[in-house]
Amino acid sequence: MTAFDVRPITEEERRSTFDLLRRALHVRPVTDDVWARIRESWPAAHKFGAFEGGSPIGIVSSYDTEIAVPGGRILPVAAVEGVGVRADRTRRGALSAMMAAQLADFAARGLPLAVLHASEPTIYGRFGYGSAALGKTVRVERPAARLHERVAAGGDVRLLTPEEAVKEIPGLYRRIGLHRPGMIGRPAQWWPISHDQQAGPDGGHLVAVHSGPDGDDGFVVYATISRRSFEAPDRGAALDVHDLHAAGPEARAALWRYLLSVDLVSEVRARHRPVDEPLALMLTDHRHAATVAVEDDLWLRPVDVEAALAGRTYGTAGPVVLAVTDRQLPANTGHYEAGPDGARRTGAAADLALDVDTLGMLYLGQWSATTLAEAGRVEVRDEAALARADELFTTTAAPWCGTHF
Ligand SMILES: CC(C)(COP(=O)(O)OP(=O)(O)OC[C@H]1O[C@@H](n2cnc3c(N)ncnc32)[C@H](O)[C@@H]1OP(=O)(O)O)[C@@H](O)C(=O)NCCC(=O)NCCS
Repeated sequence: MTAFDVRPITEEERRSTFDLLRRALHVRPVTDDVWARIRESWPAAHKFGAFEGGSPIGIVSSYDTEIAVPGGRILPVAAVEGVGVRADRTRRGALSAMMAAQLADFAARGLPLAVLHASEPTIYGRFGYGSAALGKTVRVERPAARLHERVAAGGDVRLLTPEEAVKEIPGLYRRIGLHRPGMIGRPAQWWPISHDQQAGPDGGHLVAVHSGPDGDDGFVVYATISRRSFEAPDRGAALDVHDLHAAGPEARAALWRYLLSVDLVSEVRARHRPVDEPLALMLTDHRHAATVAVEDDLWLRPVDVEAALAGRTYGTAGPVVLAVTDRQLPANTGHYEAGPDGARRTGAAADLALDVDTLGMLYLGQWSATTLAEAGRVEVRDEAALARADELFTTTAAPWCGTHF
């Protein structure tokens, strides 16, 4: 077993840690050209590395942004990204040590929440993250799928040039706003890797924008993948939706109408869509759209439990008292009352007891307290409190992140 140190990375260690991450994710290190374009997306700030003899063997990264929480308030959040350990140094505690340093930093900076997407679902529960918003994968048959006549016609949909896409989509995303619990802001450093690489001049993706009565109010980034072969020369392409956001149902319907109208396509596929997006119900025959998977999308960790609970709103039932246990940030362990008039720490006896990762699952409204209790994640001390907790925590719109990081 070898020893390692965990510390913030320096400016000079940006590229070596980025390459380390790519190797851990089974992609090649970047070329000098690509690095020159994306280096601003990998600043030294908010990165902790594990180092052995001066060389990086692990990295965890995050950036500060904002998240919409139930009730519509926007809270500060750390978006954890770029997690990797060198393949010959895994299972020696490097990730655990880096996560501990990162969480201590989030707590010291007063962040109420942290979020991430997990490559594997078994990794992050131990660090207090819970699966907080799901996403569905849909597959729509073309040309059979048609929107029915009562679906709003919408306005004009136009294709952007790659240069226009790089310039216009960040502002459009901002204007559309964080209108569902779980949606997060996209800071300047998010765009070069996660958008420009696909939608810009070298990417090959296409970008379409919808204009409604008040101007541009929705966009879709997609790629078409030819599936023709010698055996199947006439087979239609697959159209993969990479990123689709709309300010309202009309813009969303118009973008889907457009996607379903692209010629020489036999299948439109989209991953991580909101679980309550009514695409199948918008079709004349709902069987032409199949939900082929529902997966964990956003994972959430309350970093400051009291601030997190106080930041969202609740339904109309009487209050409940939660006993929360947090092994990594023990200052959070305690009792909290949540009810229609807000949430706060309390000395009152608890109705329900749960670990902080389960509180992460409850927080955005994806899972009811009853479901979590049935799964053995919530200990019920007062049976009547379960129904109240369901009423208090559940949201009308399903939570959804819709941003990959
Ligand atoms: C996931 C990864 C970062 C874990 O790093 P690591 O340094 O091996 O993790 P640790 O040694 O601190 O492990 C902590 C615990 O989590 C468990 N664990 C870690 N990764 C796991 C995995 N992929 N599957 C199951 N358990 C895992 C370990 O067994 C250990 O459990 P224990 O405390 O009960 O012994 C590393 O395997 C990796 O880089 N994988 C490839 C890239 C990747 O998946 N990144 C995550 C992107 S979201």
